Amino acid sequence: MSRRPLRLAVYFLACTPAVCAAATSAADKDRQGAATVHPQRWPKLHPALARDPQLEARVEQLLSRLTTAQKVGQLIQADIGSITPDDLQHYPLGSILNGGNSSPRDDKLAAPSEWLALADRFYDAAMAASPIGLPLLWGTDAVHGHNNIAGATIFPHNIGLGAARDPELIRRIGEITALEVRVTGLDWAFSPTVAVARDARWGRTFESYSENPGLVRAYAAAMVEGLQGTPGTPQFLAAAHVLATAKHFLGDGGTEGGRDQGDNPAPESELRAVDAAGYEAAISAGAQTVMVSYSSWQGVKMHGNRGLLTSVLKGRMGFDGLLLGDWNGHAQLPGCTAVRCAVAINAGIDVLMAPDGWRELHDNTLGQVGSGEIPAARLDDAVRRVLRVKLRAHLDTAGRPSSRPFAGHYELLGAAAHRAVARQAVRESLVLLKNHDHLLPLAPPAHVLVAGDAADSIARQSGGWTIDWQGTEPNQDFPHGETVYAAIARCVRAAGGSATLSPDGEFTARPDVAVVVFGEHPYAEFAGDVATLEYSPGDKHDLALLRRLRAREIPVVAVFLSGRPLWVNAELNASDSFVAAWLPGPEGGGIADVLFRSADGAVRYDFRGRLPFSWPRSPRPPAGDGRRGEPPLFPYGYGLSYGDDGNLPQLPESD
Ligand code: BGC
Ligand code: BGC
Repeated sequence: MSRRPLRLAVYFLACTPAVCAAATSAADKDRQGAATVHPQRWPKLHPALARDPQLEARVEQLLSRLTTAQKVGQLIQADIGSITPDDLQHYPLGSILNGGNSSPRDDKLAAPSEWLALADRFYDAAMAASPIGLPLLWGTDAVHGHNNIAGATIFPHNIGLGAARDPELIRRIGEITALEVRVTGLDWAFSPTVAVARDARWGRTFESYSENPGLVRAYAAAMVEGLQGTPGTPQFLAAAHVLATAKHFLGDGGTEGGRDQGDNPAPESELRAVDAAGYEAAISAGAQTVMVSYSSWQGVKMHGNRGLLTSVLKGRMGFDGLLLGDWNGHAQLPGCTAVRCAVAINAGIDVLMAPDGWRELHDNTLGQVGSGEIPAARLDDAVRRVLRVKLRAHLDTAGRPSSRPFAGHYELLGAAAHRAVARQAVRESLVLLKNHDHLLPLAPPAHVLVAGDAADSIARQSGGWTIDWQGTEPNQDFPHGETVYAAIARCVRAAGGSATLSPDGEFTARPDVAVVVFGEHPYAEFAGDVATLEYSPGDKHDLALLRRLRAREIPVVAVFLSGRPLWVNAELNASDSFVAAWLPGPEGGGIADVLFRSADGAVRYDFRGRLPFSWPRSPRPPAGDGRRGEPPLFPYGYGLSYGDDGNLPQLPESD
């Protein structure tokens, strides 16, 4: 336990605002000392793209034609929930985003054509307001497909992709995601997340590919190239691609206790070797944007960490693209608010994500440039980076969003070929942890009871960042989706079997086997932080269901949906077979593909998923790569195939 919270508590109790401010800044100084960065110890990278002298000359020329107010506009990003195209007349901002809960007309089921029409309106307004003929960029959290759009292809969340160990697949997913984003006229994906999560209590563990920096490195490169295209080829950032974002820089996956937006206490060497792995790869693959983390390193908020943002990322790593702040992340810096924060810009952030406070932030930032609090050179450097990225992304010649090559090709959203890749990803992501007496694979001409309260729920399969921020949509909002139950029913019926949906596991006709689908409920960000790794503490109805079926001598296959590895010893004991399915998304067919043989009895797909995270033997995080703790129940890389002996001894059920 660090002493910091105690000291803060004392400030709250005992000081007047002025004394508090002095004390807080002394404490900041202390912390600053601890968080010393040594840039020369960081790897020197060579940018993926050689500087193009012609492009750089254009950047200079455009820059020289902007007024100071117009320059400041390039530094601010608003959310479509609080800005209209008309606002650009007075506030010509350089970019916009749709946050997880923002969509055209504030309707999360808005048709794709409405997204494209809105992109056109922002484009027209930006062009009318721009003295240099450069439109704005629109960024979106396309983190497992173009997931804010009902009907788009949705892939398993990153944790499941981590189990697949298939960088080629990741590249393909990036390409499909980029194409579908282009259909709706947007330019920029806020992905991939390259966090190396080390404490699964973190609510964003599912956004992390792995606890293993090597795997994150390989995937970061593949995803960036899939989204953006390969640098040096004509496809790079051409019509079928979008800008990628490596996020969240730096250390979001290593916070104490897995606390979202918390403090990462790692020594600099660990930050470099573990947390930075994905950034080196992403930047080498040409990533044009990086998003800053809400978290702190050794007590200092990343949004204000000049050493890491400027000296390391932009200096040693040679990152010459655009550095984006996170959603009002600057507001958390000492001395800042959502609408005033020179220190974030001075630390090296080029674009502040100011979803709702953009107007006042613009005015205040303009004042701070005027007073010299933000040096003119820093302002120009930030604007240069924004303009460079816009020109590299061909925004100057791309034309209206709807006139671009794939725009309006709505048949590409959720196209059969795209969903086939998502279903393949689901198959590859499943990890088999137990298979008593080779219960799996199942023969389809059987009577299957499909139980568990997640058996018929696409939301439960998909997790957060699906249509909306926390992932709350009913099945009917997924026009192409198939629940695990629906997929199993389709599969067994085609072979002459039958399937019955029974969430509570009750039945009249005795089944040959029960498949029980259960697990976590959707969450995103801090809403998913938990205190212990025990699965569902305080509510053991899933366990009771497994036990009831077992007591009636029905063979039980557990399909566990979760955004992280959890302590499930009792559930493992109560199942004959146990599948960690992560958050596979709407393509439930991928699960039936692996669980069932073909009608003629052949194995169609074996399990090939391997654990991307070590699996805990207690409610506490297990030891992993270079980390202390108790040994895991199943180590990183574990996963059975059908030929393996899948029997498990009885596991201890109390901690
Ligand atoms: C998240 C980012 C996300 C942004 C925009 C933030 O709260 O941390 O990952 O890109 O919101 O939705
Ligand atoms: C937004 C998300 C954002 C979050 C930040 C939500 O309201 O929809 O995009 O990441 O707030 O806390």
